[in-house]
Amino acid sequence: MSIDNTKKILVTGAAGQIGIELTAALREKYGTESVMAIDIRETEAAKSGPFKICNILDLNKYKKIVNDNNIGTVYHLAAILSATGEKNPKLCFDVNMNGLQNVLEVAREYNQRIFCPSSIAVFGPDVPKENTPQNVALNPTTVYGLTKVAGELLCDYYVNKYNVDIRGIRYPGLISWKNKPSGGTTDYAVEIYFGAAQNEKYQCFVNEETRLPMMYMPDAIRGTLELMDAPLKSLKYHSNYNLSGMSFSAGELAESIQKVIPNFECTFKPDSRQEIADSWPVTIDDGAAKKDWGWKPKFDIKTMTKDMLKNLRN
Ligand code: NAD
Ligand code: SER
Repeated sequence: MSIDNTKKILVTGAAGQIGIELTAALREKYGTESVMAIDIRETEAAKSGPFKICNILDLNKYKKIVNDNNIGTVYHLAAILSATGEKNPKLCFDVNMNGLQNVLEVAREYNQRIFCPSSIAVFGPDVPKENTPQNVALNPTTVYGLTKVAGELLCDYYVNKYNVDIRGIRYPGLISWKNKPSGGTTDYAVEIYFGAAQNEKYQCFVNEETRLPMMYMPDAIRGTLELMDAPLKSLKYHSNYNLSGMSFSAGELAESIQKVIPNFECTFKPDSRQEIADSWPVTIDDGAAKKDWGWKPKFDIKTMTKDMLKNLRN
C-alpha cells in the first residue's frame, strides 16, 4: 500500500503513558496540525494540538473523526493494561478486542496504515524465560495477555486478508518521567523513580528478585517511528516484533538509584501483581527487529537512571 503524505495521523489513547510522548514526537516530526489526538480523558499534553474526547468503542464517533480529519495513519494506543485487566476482565476484553476491531474495520474501509502495540504479556510462564524467542507457543495467563495475543492474530488477519499495512511491537515495560502510569504490572519501575525523587523512599509491589524486560521511553518512541518508516518489503513480521532494551531485577533498579541518591530507601512488599510479573520473560530475543529494521537500543539502566532522576528533580 502506498503512503499518501497529504493525510493526517491519529493517536488513540493519547493521554496515556506512551500516548503523551508519541503524540509529541509525531507532532514534532510531522507538524502539530497533522496529528489528531483522541482519548476518553483530557490532559494538557494531549490537548497541545488537535484533540477530541472519543471512546474507541463508539464506532460512529470514531469513524466521523477519521472521516472529518482525513486520517491516513492510526497509532492505536487505547487499551486496558495488565493489573487493571485482572481487576476488570470484561472491560479489558471490551476495550482491547472490540476497540481494536473498530480501528481495523475503519482502517480497511479508509485504506489506513496502523501501528498497534503488543506486549511481553503475550508470553506465558512456560516460554523460555531467557532470550524468549520471537516464535514460541504463547499461552499467557492474564486476560490482558490473552487480548494481546488475539490482537496480534487479528491484526495479522487484516494484513493477510485485506492487505492493510499494520505494524506492532511487543513493548517491554516502559519507563518514563512525563506521566506516572497506572494499571500496569511494570509500573513499579516508574513509581520507584518518582518515590526516589520526591521523598527518597519507595515501597515496591514486587519482590527484590523480580527481573523483567524494560525499556526507556525515548528508545521506545524512536523504535516505534523507525518501524513505521521501514520499507514494508523488509518486514518479515507485522504486529508482533519482539523488542529488547534492558533487563534488571527490582533490587538492581533500587541499587542504581542509590548510586545517585545514597539515602534512597526501597522496601519490598509483593501484592497480587507479583504473580503477573512471575508469568513474564526475563530477557527477550529481538533478532528479527534488529535484522528487519535495524533496531538498536541506546539506553542501559545506568544512563536511564541518570536521565530519569535529572528530569524528575527538575
Ligand atoms: P495507558 O493506560 O497509560 O494509556 C492508555 C490510554 O487509553 C489512557 O489514556 C486511557 O484513558 C485510554 N483509554 C482507555 N480506554 C479507552 C477507550 N475505551 N477509548 C479511548 N481511550 C481509552 O497505557 P500505555 O502504557 O500508554 O499503553 C499504550 C499501549 O501500549 C497499550 O496497547 C499497551 O498494551 C501497550 N503497552 C504498554 C506498555 C507500557 O509499559 N506502558 C508495555 C507494553 C505494551
Ligand atoms: N507494562 C505493561 C503492563 O505492565 C505490559 O504490557 O501491563
